[in-house]
Amino acid sequence: MKTIGILTSGGDSPGMNPAVRAAVLAAHSAGLTVFGVNRGYAGMMENDFAELSPAYVADIVNRGGTVLYSARSKEFCTEDGMTKAIANCRSRGIEGVVVIGGDGSFRGARDLSERGLPCVGVPGTIDNDIACTDYTIGYDTCLNTIADMVDRIRDTSYSHDRVMFVEVMGRGAGWLALTSAVASGATAVLLPEIEWDFDRDVLAAIRREQAQGKRYFIIIAAEGCTADGKESVDELAKRTQAATGLESRSVVLGHVQRGGIPTVRDRVIAAQMGTRAVQLLQDGIGNRVVALKAEAVVDYDIFQALKMSKSIDTKLYALVNG
Ligand code: F6P
Repeated sequence: MKTIGILTSGGDSPGMNPAVRAAVLAAHSAGLTVFGVNRGYAGMMENDFAELSPAYVADIVNRGGTVLYSARSKEFCTEDGMTKAIANCRSRGIEGVVVIGGDGSFRGARDLSERGLPCVGVPGTIDNDIACTDYTIGYDTCLNTIADMVDRIRDTSYSHDRVMFVEVMGRGAGWLALTSAVASGATAVLLPEIEWDFDRDVLAAIRREQAQGKRYFIIIAAEGCTADGKESVDELAKRTQAATGLESRSVVLGHVQRGGIPTVRDRVIAAQMGTRAVQLLQDGIGNRVVALKAEAVVDYDIFQALKMSKSIDTKLYALVNG
């Protein structure tokens, strides 16, 4: 393989840039030409490529977001879209692509691989919801941001003896909510993966801690439990105030969680994964997904990886809602 492409796709995550940097540097040392594809698969279809040099990535190791931009493209999922994307790659001599993103991006990588353009996926999403890997790039930075925000929320909740509902990201996955709830000493956590009940998991938890002398309460809810037409954190706060007499408020942390300087953990894992992805392509191995298992960087067949499932850590859950 002489020329490869690299793209970031789906929701951006802090650590995508260090992964791009590592991939470009590894490719350069191996004598490969690298094209960055701007805006993920959308840019691949629209012929938005730029050759990347080590100088281009010299300053991005500590930058959040992605210098390659990101997008979610519906058109790419059509046969026409993929044909266009592959033709644009071929016209530049691109023989393999590093795809940094989440599950949706991996499905795109699988589809391209099936059509003869080998891809290697690198897990980049704040959600940590990719089944084949213990860890996704961006998760640690996002958790630290949430923990910092909740610490600030704690100061004001404590000062007013209030209940505070905090909605964190995670439409389909509760990893961010669960881990941040443990880290923040939350009274309760609501996850999309585990059925919850307002009286049992919220009111009873508040009353239990109240009986132990606690005067303020933080409840963390994953977006998947309280967004998109479900009872919102604001409505839950109002219900709680009516039931307990405790002043209750809510906050949706939103996209503040997705930005920021990547933590050391995200940078180091990104460096290892980005390098591994290029090594695989360099050895002529495509259709793989890089993953972290028991702190070691490994890789899996992309088709198998997409069939795997990952369940939420019930021991961690019991530490909060136990
Ligand atoms: O997948 C990452 C993520 O941040 C999810 O946690 C969240 O549900 C979603 O993206 C939000 O997407 P958007 O930025 O398109 O609103």
